[in-house]
Amino acid sequence: MALDILKIRKDFPILDQKVYGKPLIYFDSAASAQKVLSVLKKEEQLVLEYYGNIHRGAHYMADKATAEFEAVRDSVKNFINARFREEIIFTKGATEGMNLVAFSFGESFINEGDEIILTEMEHHANIVPWQMMAMRRKAVIKVIPFSDDGRLEVEKLDSLITSKTKIIAVAHISNTLGMVNPVKEIIAKAHSHGIKVLVDGAQSVKHFKIDVQDMDADFYSFSSHKMYGPNGVGVLYGKRELLDKMVPYQGGGEMISVVKFEKTTYNSLPYKFEAGTPDITGVIAFGEAVRYLNEMDTDAMISYENSLTCYCMDELKKIKGVIIYGTWKDHSSVISFNIKGIHHYDLAMILDKGGVALRSGRLCADPVMDHYGVSGMLRVSFDVYNTFAEVDSFIVLLKKAIKMLGGAKINE
Ligand SMILES: Cc1ncc(COP(=O)(O)O)c(C=O)c1O
Repeated sequence: MALDILKIRKDFPILDQKVYGKPLIYFDSAASAQKVLSVLKKEEQLVLEYYGNIHRGAHYMADKATAEFEAVRDSVKNFINARFREEIIFTKGATEGMNLVAFSFGESFINEGDEIILTEMEHHANIVPWQMMAMRRKAVIKVIPFSDDGRLEVEKLDSLITSKTKIIAVAHISNTLGMVNPVKEIIAKAHSHGIKVLVDGAQSVKHFKIDVQDMDADFYSFSSHKMYGPNGVGVLYGKRELLDKMVPYQGGGEMISVVKFEKTTYNSLPYKFEAGTPDITGVIAFGEAVRYLNEMDTDAMISYENSLTCYCMDELKKIKGVIIYGTWKDHSSVISFNIKGIHHYDLAMILDKGGVALRSGRLCADPVMDHYGVSGMLRVSFDVYNTFAEVDSFIVLLKKAIKMLGGAKINE
């Protein structure tokens, strides 16, 4: 069934506006997608009608909020096809999920000299927590490289894995190169050596129909704000038998069973990993984002986003001096590029004044910038609410900006 993009855009009223007097072209959904109207309405309804703290109240509003909060856990469980609701831990975002695993898995399973494998294309959120853990536990970090076309060199994994390897942490989709990494292959190989795998799902959770059981990931971390939901909310999926064996990440209310000065016992899953009052409003409103995505024809959405990406990529390639990073065939809806002789920041500033919201800079991925020896890149990312007409306008504006800045000549 074809998607009605204009109807979809009505669910995101923020898109229908002008910035600096120009129609907004929002090409920055990989950083944060816009929020669907039903999410905002739910937040308002909760706060105006029945807000209360969850799991601890003895009154109508607390009970209603608790029931809705826990119902979202069930929706998320079904959305990613987890086996048990206890495997869904609410966090404040993908970053916190990765920190949680690095800390709790590290403290429970990683000892001096043990090894962790990351990839060269990770977001900082899937590098720095592991470095912090490696310093504490005196562990060693190894890295799977990527080739210049952006392909992860998975064939090198065999030579990186040793009897000391405990976990591999890998992005399902790179936020800079847009590459879709072969996580199933990596997980199967890791498991054949008894190694666990954390998948950073920040960019993939909305780009694919995720089935964590089929993927067989041990952990999968993602953020609500990249799925039309509120920011400040995320989910860490973890296999129950692993989470059970891991020490808690933070201490406080909710995560305990009995507290005595002599000894405290911890709550059962998932609460063991949810210390303190969570973002109640955010989680409940996130349920509406999940509902929206459930009602969407996922295949049609993915295929539409892919066709927008291919179209933009083809148009960009016609511009003389363009350098596209990540040209390997397994691509998602992110394109990072530079124009020879022009600073990415100057282009971004001019495009912004033309109404185009895109990302420029180091994209939270310093190792990728170092790989190509650049100070930064421009990145456009597409979502189902973008249109081909917006791509056309963007290309026109980009060509004008290049002319203004006197960079490479354009092939007309
Ligand atoms: C691949 C990837 N991992 C992790 C993150 C961090 O997500 P958050 O800032 O929502 O915690 C991002 C955000 O852009 C990302 O793209």
